[in-house]
Amino acid sequence: MTFDEMLKLTDDLVFAKTGQHLNDLQEKVVRGTIQGETYEKIAEDFHCNESYVRDIGSKLWHIFSESLGEEVNKSNLRSVMQRFQVSLFSNVVQDHVQAGSINFCEKTRQPPDIPSSNSDYQQSPTENHKLSEMPGLGVFYNRTSELETLQTWILQERCRLITITGISGIGKTQLAVKLIQEIKHDFEYILWYNLDHASTFTEFQAELIELFYPKTESELIAKNGKRFKPIKYLQKHRCLVVIDNIHCLFCSNQLAGQYQPEYEEFRYLFKQIEELSHQSCFLLIGWEQPIELAEIRSSNPKFKTLTIRGLETKAIAEFFPEQELGEYEKLTPRIHHYQGNPLWLNIIANFIPEMEDFGDKIIENNTIFLPQSLKDNLQQQFNRLSPLEKQVLLELVQDEQPVNLAQLLQRRQINSSDLFNALQSLLRRCWLEKQDHFHCLPAVIRQYITDRND
Ligand SMILES: Nc1ncnc2c1ncn2[C@@H]1O[C@H](COP(=O)(O)OP(=O)(O)OP(=O)(O)O)[C@@H](O)[C@H]1O
Ligand SMILES: [Mg+2]
Repeated sequence: MTFDEMLKLTDDLVFAKTGQHLNDLQEKVVRGTIQGETYEKIAEDFHCNESYVRDIGSKLWHIFSESLGEEVNKSNLRSVMQRFQVSLFSNVVQDHVQAGSINFCEKTRQPPDIPSSNSDYQQSPTENHKLSEMPGLGVFYNRTSELETLQTWILQERCRLITITGISGIGKTQLAVKLIQEIKHDFEYILWYNLDHASTFTEFQAELIELFYPKTESELIAKNGKRFKPIKYLQKHRCLVVIDNIHCLFCSNQLAGQYQPEYEEFRYLFKQIEELSHQSCFLLIGWEQPIELAEIRSSNPKFKTLTIRGLETKAIAEFFPEQELGEYEKLTPRIHHYQGNPLWLNIIANFIPEMEDFGDKIIENNTIFLPQSLKDNLQQQFNRLSPLEKQVLLELVQDEQPVNLAQLLQRRQINSSDLFNALQSLLRRCWLEKQDHFHCLPAVIRQYITDRND
């Protein structure tokens, strides 16, 4: 990397952050630092006070640190910039990325709407929020600790890639909507993108282009086949990209989180998002997370996973406002089976009189009432399971008590690797629970599998 390229890169970073190019003194500080000069020498050359130069330097290092997500100072500026450049042009990445899909090498124009600065670089960002696909926020109880965790990861720890997983209906999407309401002003650009089975990578990329460019220009880019490099914008700007229903990227009838061939480009994009230095965050929401993120322990502190569990007891009571306290207490053991899943609780709340008609018979038999809409909800997820997972569920449903891996292996129904992988996959889908090495089926899942086989 040449001296001028390094200078240009620092200027780009400052421009992206403050809306202004390096002024003469800032440029001199960067030049001097790259050339190994002391603050004293820089001040002398510029005929100004050394402490003033130090102050300019520390503000610049602060900008670079924030933009690149790592500590930058006078002694490591040169090496960080070189590393940053290498990561941008990394051959490894280019090998992975199909030409024409994502590339990092073209010279770009400056993005629109760059904010102007104030003296200490704390300007409020220009907000370009594309949230037309984001659902509205309904009644929302609790989730304080999940919201705190996510805010810490995103705002303080500056995580780059976060997956939010959990069984259908548990409240992942609503949690993300609430989160965005609370943190949206920390981001210049936000995109909410809902995947479905007809989505394509090109379509997703077009949404990203449109986020950064006005409509007419994005059409021109698409038309001229001009190559687009989202990572550049994610590096220059603080962007939040939410992709909901991430499970649509993965194969049905296989273990959780395996990409369908036509979605491989998403894998490469997520890999870059996790590995390259940038100041943006991707939030991936769904029933399954990519297998490489779930199975390979990442040493990267910028990547996190949050598995969403049921609501707390106090919040669950809110779903049954018509019940007198005494009546509600009678219902509690039955409601408990629905594991604080707000979708299931909303369905069940409609059927309280019917549940009372079933009366104690249900409790005696340990039967759990599954209305059709709840079954339909489970059916969609069941259809995605691999044959092996279905076989394991059928085995587990026989066990009244939790069982461990050794006990399952003794039965010799399924070979050890297959059994292990199927259990892991079911755990990741939250179709299985594990406590102290013992596996057991959640009550609703157990009932669903039992009903299917009756
Ligand atoms: N914290 C909450 N308090 C009250 N109701 C909630 C809460 N979270 C979710 N709900 C309700 O539960 C239902 C399911 O929520 P949501 O769509 O967020 O689930 P999900 O996990 O995204 O499901 P899926 O994986 O199927 O998309 C919605 O009707 C929603 O209004
Ligand atoms: Mg959802």
